[in-house]
Amino acid sequence: MDPSRHIVLIGPMGAGKSTIGKRLARDLGRPFIDSDQVIRERTGVEIARIFDVEGEAGFRQREKDAIADLLNEPACVLATGGGAVLDADTRARLRDQGMVVYLDTSVAEQLRRTGKDKRRPLLQTENPQERLEALMAERQPLYEATAHITVSTDRGSIGQMVQRIMAALEEHPA
Ligand code: S3P
Repeated sequence: MDPSRHIVLIGPMGAGKSTIGKRLARDLGRPFIDSDQVIRERTGVEIARIFDVEGEAGFRQREKDAIADLLNEPACVLATGGGAVLDADTRARLRDQGMVVYLDTSVAEQLRRTGKDKRRPLLQTENPQERLEALMAERQPLYEATAHITVSTDRGSIGQMVQRIMAALEEHPA
């Protein structure tokens, strides 16, 4: 594993990017950074507020800028928002500057984990299952094309998932 390369977690809402990322960073002795958290700190408001005021396009631009900046910082474990891969420049940067790990998660599991989420604007809908399925249909090919490594997070403890990721990173030639 190249210590100068970022480890980037991609995947849908409820994949466990933040929970797994924090543990992975701790075990590797690297900083953990969550791009949504950086956007909250930069703007001083919640993500939902950015969607309300600037629309999804405004949020995507902020997300693109934040990720580009974070990739120029010292190597960390970076958790990205579920829609970060929608942007072609971001996809290219992530692959170029990071080892990208796709946390593959079924819609059923995402639903279970996001439950009655009030923070994620895209889930404030009558039918979150339908929304998650539509997002997955659009994004799965992008997650797969961006990732160096894919790890399922449907089953197992956080510790086991972290072990699986570390083993896959060790085996990967890059
Ligand atoms: C989004 C996922 C969220 C956040 C925003 C949009 C998405 O992050 O960036 O609400 O488009 O899937 P998480 O994947 O961390 O929930």
